[in-house]
Amino acid sequence: MVCLGNICRSPIAEGILKSKIEKHGLPWTVDSAGTSSWHSGEQPDNRAIAITKKYGVDITYQKARQFSPYDFEKFDRIYAMDAGNYRDILRLALTDDEKQKVEMILNESFPGMNKQVPDPYWNDNGFDEVYKMLDEACEAVVKKYAVNV
Ligand code: 4NP
Repeated sequence: MVCLGNICRSPIAEGILKSKIEKHGLPWTVDSAGTSSWHSGEQPDNRAIAITKKYGVDITYQKARQFSPYDFEKFDRIYAMDAGNYRDILRLALTDDEKQKVEMILNESFPGMNKQVPDPYWNDNGFDEVYKMLDEACEAVVKKYAVNV
């Protein structure tokens, strides 16, 4: 799960998908990162912590980090929150195989529409909407890739 700062959208997405894989007992590794290093080492934004807490998901343990080319080796799927993140990740991909791992997260819930998760950093009221969009997308990911769910 990748956004710009790794303190708002992608930590929420990581928390939601981890809670779903725990619920279903799926053997997946989920992590998040930012295309920038601006907030590296920081806890998620307080508003991201609050919205996930409202829905019973704890993300307080998370620490922001910058996306690394090594992530292409470590992960099968790399989800960008918006078109800027998508472009910045693709720029680091060296092979077609790496490029094919990258997808816009909302294409899982709205295939082919290239919808973006709006950046809620500058909008206190955007966090609930972001949570709902990501919950729907993560549910679609589980349905698509998990066997027997
Ligand atoms: P995120 O949100 O990419 O969802 O973590 C942002 C966090 C910080 C900044 C921008 C977006 N910033 O400009 O510092």
